[in-house]
Amino acid sequence: MEWQAKWLAPAEDLGDVAPLFAKDFSLAGKVQKAVLYITALGVYEASLNGSRVGEFVLAPAWTAYYKRLQYQAYDVTALLKEENALKVLVGKGWYRSRMPGWQGSAYQAGLQKNPAALLAQLMITYEDGSTQTILSDESWTVSESSVRFSEIYDGEIYDASIEAFSPAPVKIFDGPFHTLIPQQGEEIREQERIAAATVFVTPKGETVVDFGQNLTGYVEISLTAGKGQVVDLSFAEVMDKEGNFYTENYRSAKAQYHYTCCDGPQTYKPKLTFYGFRYIRVNEFPGGVEKMDKACFTAVVVHSDLKRTGYLTSSNPLLNQLFDNIFWGQKGNFVDVPTDCPQRDERLGWTGDAQVFVRTACLNYDCEKFFTKWLSDMTADQGENGRIGHVVPDLLQAERSSAAWGDAAAICPWEVYLAYGNPGILKAQFETMKKWVGYITSTTTTENLWTGGEHFADWLGLDAPSGSYKGSTREDFIASAFYAHSTALVIKAGKVLGEDVSEYEALHGQIVEAFRKAYPTYETQTECILAAHFGLAPDRQAAADQLADMVKAAGVQLKTGFVGTPYILHVLSDYGYTDLAYSLLLREQYPSWLYPVTKGATTIWEHWDGIMENGDFWSADMNSYNHYAYGSVADWVYSTACGITTQEDFPGYERARIAPHPDSRLDWLEAVLDTRHGRISSRWKKEGGLWEYAITTPVPAEIVIDGVNHEVQAGSYIFYSAI
Ligand code: BGC
Repeated sequence: MEWQAKWLAPAEDLGDVAPLFAKDFSLAGKVQKAVLYITALGVYEASLNGSRVGEFVLAPAWTAYYKRLQYQAYDVTALLKEENALKVLVGKGWYRSRMPGWQGSAYQAGLQKNPAALLAQLMITYEDGSTQTILSDESWTVSESSVRFSEIYDGEIYDASIEAFSPAPVKIFDGPFHTLIPQQGEEIREQERIAAATVFVTPKGETVVDFGQNLTGYVEISLTAGKGQVVDLSFAEVMDKEGNFYTENYRSAKAQYHYTCCDGPQTYKPKLTFYGFRYIRVNEFPGGVEKMDKACFTAVVVHSDLKRTGYLTSSNPLLNQLFDNIFWGQKGNFVDVPTDCPQRDERLGWTGDAQVFVRTACLNYDCEKFFTKWLSDMTADQGENGRIGHVVPDLLQAERSSAAWGDAAAICPWEVYLAYGNPGILKAQFETMKKWVGYITSTTTTENLWTGGEHFADWLGLDAPSGSYKGSTREDFIASAFYAHSTALVIKAGKVLGEDVSEYEALHGQIVEAFRKAYPTYETQTECILAAHFGLAPDRQAAADQLADMVKAAGVQLKTGFVGTPYILHVLSDYGYTDLAYSLLLREQYPSWLYPVTKGATTIWEHWDGIMENGDFWSADMNSYNHYAYGSVADWVYSTACGITTQEDFPGYERARIAPHPDSRLDWLEAVLDTRHGRISSRWKKEGGLWEYAITTPVPAEIVIDGVNHEVQAGSYIFYSAI
């Protein structure tokens, strides 16, 4: 793309008001094709002759802006007329909002210094072959807009009562060209509309609308009002134990929505920000809150435009709700970047959370493009010494990487490769993966182990000493285990790419040896899990046996946090404890996956006890009700309970292995997976006193029923085994 356009900014700073850039132009003939190339420092919404250009909301989305800024190309042929008005509204977005909310960020402060700038180039080709180009340049104008304020955490203030804005001059801004890249990720789009379910008045006398689902997006209001009247809304995920509206867990995120009406019927939704919520409190409404009709409000669900590929259903309604919550957790947090949560003053691309969830993510939805883009941002923000940020884009710029967070650099590309079979992702990320392992090698204080770092440890582990977020698993144990794991993944990736990995093979051998010496015994569930799952224990079966004993001794309870939880069921079922794995999956008391479901959860919680048995909250400062990480359990349901995996030598399900593990506490369970090679399904159910397995594979597969292997061609099969 040859850019002839210039970056524009308002000649006079408009402060918090979102500028509206405008350009009028006429056509010189019959148009064959017209394409608008456009981007901004912020988020933009473009319209041509009053019609929205494209469906991308929050464009150009969020990248490692110092290195990469996406531009979009829209075919606008159908929108053109003889006389045209092109308008572009630019909000602060991820580029210029204050972020994160709890500490300063020099990275973000550097971006925030920029003005609300726009770059646009409309290329028109006429039927006679001639061309015309409309460029952002000095001939454009800019005005204030009704968007008086708009930021990622703090929401929007909109004033529809202002009747006219006078056009003012723009100035040319020395904006970035060297960082421009064509759109690489998925577009963020409006996906669903949800009508308000109920309205109620709380004990405090506040009027609350419940949408029945915790979600990410915004609220459309539709009403008839008088000029100057106000609709003012607040957002919340949960109600407190007294039944009052609870916003403390949003921390410093104001998440406001303040709308001043014009005269007559009107419909509006903020589109330059987003909110994570299930409930809205109506603070102000024309004629009084009691005049409010719930039909005025519609929740609009917004996330990356991912194709759904996975489906899980069972005979257990609580389990089905858990599955649903896992999908909602992903939708709510896959808004261009895999974020920890969509509501409080974070909403950041936490690397640890992403690696915990990546396998499940790639089963539920086609995330190849989504992760390819995010991993490119990871590479862009990787330190010279191989350091990987806690978050990507790396607003936090921590000097030291954390184990199991930075390891996303190795884990995510490998998982994306296994899911879709395209070595392109390994090729693109191989240097980053190697540099990551090199970072550990060069910063550890003990050769062949990873010691002396600063880590998040087994974050939120239930065996944490009181007052700590970190589980009891030794930090250097986790770090050294992940050092081995990432090195093993570099070896695997290198082999796929035909690279010489002998150096890493030698390193891996040394790490395993040093690890065994340093850690001959295991003290926590997570230590057993890592030792078995990463192949570090000299006797893996013994490590798994110890895990099973610990789980039983704890009263069939998991004590694991972010590090141990994604693997616990796998380790149990891989070493003969499938029954116990099911006991954890199906457990309804705290702590468990189903406990939040019994408390009415519609998404995955950050804490197993986000709402405690007595109705109290875990805490105010770290208590998100839309945190996808523990949703990673879905991967065990697809791959072990229903048994669908890819054969590692035939990634992307070019050849499948289907080895279901039924459990008599369920009557039936089904997984359906749309792969690059077609739809695989696996269902087992109780039938006539037997297990009946219905399996469909579009590719040659190894089906394993009750320990017996069947090599099959593509087709549908029924098997039976004793219950
Ligand atoms: C985030 C987590 C993240 C963690 C790092 C939290 O504030 O919400 O999900 O991984 O910090 O310890």
